[in-house]
Amino acid sequence: SILKKIIKGIPKAELHLHIEGSFEPELMFEIANRNAIALDYDSIESLKKAYKFNNLQEFLDIYYIGAQVLLHEQDFYDLTWAYLQKVHSENVVHVEIFFDPQTHTDRGVPFEVVINGIHKALENAEEKLNMSYKLIMSYLRHLSEEAAFETLEASLPFKHWIDGVGLDSSELGNPPSKFINVFKASADHGYKLVAHAGEEGPSDYIWEALDLLKVVRLDHGNRCLEDDALVQRLLDENIPLTLCPLSNLELKVIQKMEDHPVAKMLEKGILATIHSDDPAYFGGYMNENYYQTAKALDLDKNQLQQMAMNAFEASWLSAEAKEKHI
Ligand code: HPA
Ligand code: ZN
Repeated sequence: SILKKIIKGIPKAELHLHIEGSFEPELMFEIANRNAIALDYDSIESLKKAYKFNNLQEFLDIYYIGAQVLLHEQDFYDLTWAYLQKVHSENVVHVEIFFDPQTHTDRGVPFEVVINGIHKALENAEEKLNMSYKLIMSYLRHLSEEAAFETLEASLPFKHWIDGVGLDSSELGNPPSKFINVFKASADHGYKLVAHAGEEGPSDYIWEALDLLKVVRLDHGNRCLEDDALVQRLLDENIPLTLCPLSNLELKVIQKMEDHPVAKMLEKGILATIHSDDPAYFGGYMNENYYQTAKALDLDKNQLQQMAMNAFEASWLSAEAKEKHI
C-alpha cells in the first residue's frame, strides 16, 4: 500500500524498545535447545497462543519466563543482532534500546556477559549497517531500590557503553518516588535519566518522574492528558513522550487503536513519538506501529514525518549526528 511505502521511506529512530521484548519465539526455541533448557511450551505455536494479555503484569510474567533461556554472551548477541537487522530492513537508522540487567543477574548470569553480547551487536550494526545507537539500563521497579543500587554498582566498569538509566516493570504500586536516591546517584555517575510513567499508573507518577527523578524523557506517559497542568509542564519543558501504540492495545491500556492519545498529543504540541516496546510480544515492529496508528487515527504524511522528526529531536544524538540521519 501507499501508506506502507510512505512509512518505510521515512528514516526513523526507535527510542523505546526492550531488547528482551524483541525475543522472537523461533530464536527463543533455538537458544533454549542449544542451552538444554526446557521451555514450558512444547511448540512455537503453543507459546504464541499464550501471548494474550489483560494488563501489564500478565505480559511481564511471560516476558520474564522467555528471558530465562538467555545464558551466554552469544545468546545476548544473537538476540540483539536479530533485532537490529530487522529494524534496519524497516529504515530505522538510530536506536536507543533498554536492557534489564536484573532479569539476568538475578539468575546468576553476570552483568558483563549480558552487556558484552548486547554491545558487540550494537557495534556491529554501527559498522555494517551504518546505524547509530545508545544503550539504556533499566532498573526493575518491582524490586527494591537497594537492588537497583547493586545494579548501578555492577554497571560502573561498563559506564562508557551505557548512556542512561530507565525504570520499567510493574508500574502500579511502584511509584517513581521509590527510586529517588538511585536515580540521583545514577545522574552523579553521568547517566541520563528516563522512566516509564503513566502507562497504567496515574498522572501523579508522571509528576514524580519529572520532579523527583528528574527524567529528561518519559516512556509511555499516556495518562498525562488527564491533567492540564501536567500537559502544560510537558510543553514548557519540551519533555518527549515515547509512546507504543501496539503495546498499549495488547496490554489494554487502550481498548481500540482509535482511542490512542498520540494524535491529541501532537495537536497540543507535545513532543510525542511512537515506538515498538516489545515487538515480539505485541505483534509489530516500528513500521507496523506507524501503520496501525496512521490507519486508526487517519494521520497524514506530514503527521507521520512529524512523529519521526520528533524522535530524532527527542534522541540523545548530537545535533551533527541528527543532521546526518534526516
Ligand atoms: N512497561 C513496563 N515494563 C516493561 C514494559 C512495559 O511496557 N516492557 C518491558 N518491560
Ligand atoms: Zn517499555
